Amino acid sequence: MMVDRFGLLADGREVRRIVLGRPPGPVLHLLDLGATVHRLELTCGDGVRRNVVLGHATPEHYLASGDYLGATIGRYANRIAAGRFRLGGREVRLGAHDRGNHLHGGPDGFDRRMWSLLGHDDRHAVLALDSPDGDQGFPGALRAVVPFEVTDAGVRVWFEATTDATTVVNLTSHAYFNLNGSGTVDEHALQVFADSYTPVDASGIPLGWHAPVAGTPFDFRVAAALGPAVRSGDEQVARARGIDHNFVLRGSGPRLAAVLESRRTGTRLELRTDQPGLQVYTANFFDGSSRSAAGRLYRQGDGIALEPQLFPDSPNRPEFPSAVLEPGDVYRSALEWAFTTVAPGG
Ligand code: BGC
Repeated sequence: MMVDRFGLLADGREVRRIVLGRPPGPVLHLLDLGATVHRLELTCGDGVRRNVVLGHATPEHYLASGDYLGATIGRYANRIAAGRFRLGGREVRLGAHDRGNHLHGGPDGFDRRMWSLLGHDDRHAVLALDSPDGDQGFPGALRAVVPFEVTDAGVRVWFEATTDATTVVNLTSHAYFNLNGSGTVDEHALQVFADSYTPVDASGIPLGWHAPVAGTPFDFRVAAALGPAVRSGDEQVARARGIDHNFVLRGSGPRLAAVLESRRTGTRLELRTDQPGLQVYTANFFDGSSRSAAGRLYRQGDGIALEPQLFPDSPNRPEFPSAVLEPGDVYRSALEWAFTTVAPGG
C-alpha cells in the first residue's frame, strides 16, 4: 500500500494516488479526485500484466475530458429529464447541462470533487465526500462513503450514503474496461443477463417502456461481439452512435450481471451488482481529444463502461425502482469486478 502525489490541480490542491494490492494479484490505483479508479493492473490469460481500465495522465486531463473515466458518479448517475423532478410535493430544479438534461450529478458532480481518505491498508481504502444541502440543486446534506477492496480475483466497491433531508441518490462507478489494454473493444464479447433494455429519445431519456432485447443488437443474453452490435444500423444504436443504454437486469440482490471477455489476451471480467439496471456505454463520444495515461489518443469504442445503477430518469418515473433516500435510512449498493483467465487466441 502506498499513497503518493498524483499531481496538482490548477488551484494548487494536491491529488493523491492510493495503490492497493500487489503482483501477481490485481493492483488498483485510486485517486482521491473523484474517488477515481485510475489504473487496474492484472495478469491476463496470455501471462502479460496489463492495465485493463482507462485513465488519464494528470488531474487536469480528468477535469478537462468530460468522459468520467473511472470516476465515482453522484449524486445521481445518468440522466434526469430537463433537470427537474417532484419530491415531497415540490419541484426540484437541477442544472441541465447535457442536451437539456441533468447528467451524472451535474457540472460539478462527485467525479470532480476531492474525496477524503478515511482509512486504508494494503488492500482497502475508504473514501468519503460531504455534499452540502443544495449541491448542484439537490436537496439535503448528503454524506457518501465508498470503500474499495482489492481481492485475489479483482475489486469490490461499496457505495453508502446518508442524508439529513429527503433526496434522491444513484451512485455508481464509471470505470471503462479494455481487456486488451489499448485499441478498440470491438472484438470483446459481452454477455448481459437482461431480457429487456430501455429505449431512449435523441437526448438519452427513456421513451417510457422497456423493450425485449430479442431480435435486436441489444441481445447479449448469449455472449456476442461488440463490433457488429455498435455498427448495426438499428435506430436506437444510431441515435446513441453505439450502445448507451440501460439494461434491465434479471433477478434482484447481489448477482452476476455481465461478463466481458477478450480472447486475444485471454481475460474475462465478471461483474456482480445488486442494482436493477446496467448502463452499457461503448465510449461513443470519444473523438481523439483526450489521452490515456500512456499518451495514446482515446477514440470511439476504445473502452466499455458497465455502470450498475437505477434506471435512467427514475425521479420522474414512479413505475421505476425508487431513487428516494430519507433521513435515517442508508443508501447501500455493492459491486464486484472478478477476473479470471481463459485460453488466449481465437
Ligand atoms: C452516459 C453517456 C455519456 C457518458 C459520458 C455515460 O454513462 O450514459 O451518455 O456520454 O457517460 O462519459
